[in-house]
Amino acid sequence: MHIFNQGKYKSLHAQTHGELDHIRRQVEQDKDFRPRYHLAAPTGLLNDPNGLLFDGEKYHIFYQWFPFDAIHGMKHWQHFTTTDFQTFTAADMLIPDELFESHGCYSGGAILWQDKIVAFYTGNTRRASDNQRIPHQNIAIFDKSGKLLEKRCIMDRAPDGYTEHVRDPKPFITTEGKIRFVLGAQRQDLSGTALLYEMADLTDTPRLLSELAIVPFDNDKVFMWECPDLFQLDGKDLFIWSPQGKAREAKRFQNNYHATYALGKLEGTTLHAEHIEELDYGFDFYAPQTIQNAHGILYGWVGLPDLTYPTDDYKWHSMLTMPRQLKVKNGRLYQQPIAQIYAQLGEKQSHQLAGIVHLDGLDTAYLQITVENQPLAIQFFNNAQGQHLNLRYENGIVSLDRSQTTQTALMAEFGTLRQCEIADLQSIELFFDRSVVEIFLNHGEKVLTSRFFIQDRQNCLQVSRPVQAEIAQMAEIVYR
Ligand code: FRU
Repeated sequence: MHIFNQGKYKSLHAQTHGELDHIRRQVEQDKDFRPRYHLAAPTGLLNDPNGLLFDGEKYHIFYQWFPFDAIHGMKHWQHFTTTDFQTFTAADMLIPDELFESHGCYSGGAILWQDKIVAFYTGNTRRASDNQRIPHQNIAIFDKSGKLLEKRCIMDRAPDGYTEHVRDPKPFITTEGKIRFVLGAQRQDLSGTALLYEMADLTDTPRLLSELAIVPFDNDKVFMWECPDLFQLDGKDLFIWSPQGKAREAKRFQNNYHATYALGKLEGTTLHAEHIEELDYGFDFYAPQTIQNAHGILYGWVGLPDLTYPTDDYKWHSMLTMPRQLKVKNGRLYQQPIAQIYAQLGEKQSHQLAGIVHLDGLDTAYLQITVENQPLAIQFFNNAQGQHLNLRYENGIVSLDRSQTTQTALMAEFGTLRQCEIADLQSIELFFDRSVVEIFLNHGEKVLTSRFFIQDRQNCLQVSRPVQAEIAQMAEIVYR
């Protein structure tokens, strides 16, 4: 075992006595923004969901975690198990302590293989002499209780023809019982792609089958494909990934990066796409992954690379989305919180909302608003500075406007308005959780996930016309 401790490349093995408690006390100073029912990092920075797997009894949820600060430092895999998505039990983490992961355990997925949980992940390493990044692909084997048994390297360099940016293996088992994984990559010409590998079993050396082609996909300016995920759902083949570099358009690709899905038919190593679209139209959504063996349940990261948030000052950054059930309907992907999330809602109250309404607990509430395809504008919250969050529907377009909330990094560059087109809007569901809102339109036809920061807020809203709403409170997450 190695104890890495070099600047931000510091592992939990190198923590000093009381260090994390000290950081935790800083996190506790945040009285406004910590979520109550979203999985958030106890300290430091959380990013991608990783290794998501249903082992037949429990769900294993891992995420990228740098414990010591709200920055992208040495990445660990935090690990919880859950059966109901409300109580989360801590299990063995991945702590970088081998040479093949000396600069962090980067993202990946997991499979159940002969009763063991096998996580495939990227070991980030940098050569001491010139700091050159050398990506390793590794496996970590856990028993079902979540105990870590073994870690080993299966690829110790990038394949020929690709740069140092080769990462995020997502494995699955083929119908013939072989292991395959998709791997995000950058070609030597600096364009993004994904590679498809195969192994007969865990002792086999991974064999590169080919690049995974998505046809048609406009890869113009796209320099890297992060977090690929290939799976089947409702009789279709789906590829979800985070292509980096797409040019911004009027109503699409508004963020610095974004996550996309391609839905169609896989023939050999080519996915013939019938539809390609962003997964989420909000300000903060990236690097989603589906849970293996769970028929299309997906978690995303409520965040994006390069963003900073006001909560960074309290030494915590980001959270995961709620788990979402994916469904294929009308040739599109629909996303809604899973049934277990709805089961955590308290009793629903029917309200007729008109004018300005004060609502206790609005900042941790669930609201389902009936729209009946009529124009609507809602201002959520207020404070002494008049800050609020705006949601509007008009002419088949939903707009989420953060301009009247605390400005965060990149707002100047990437704007304060996110829009999506939706014909015939009937229903809006909002899940507020202090500094995050997940918005589901028409039961998952479109989704917007966003952070927003309004300090000392009053729990009130103002509607442009009377609307009918069902309102309830979500139960709090329990950590064990
Ligand atoms: C995506 C990502 C992955 C990488 C991980 C490192 O957000 O950049 O490509 O494995 O984060 O934390």
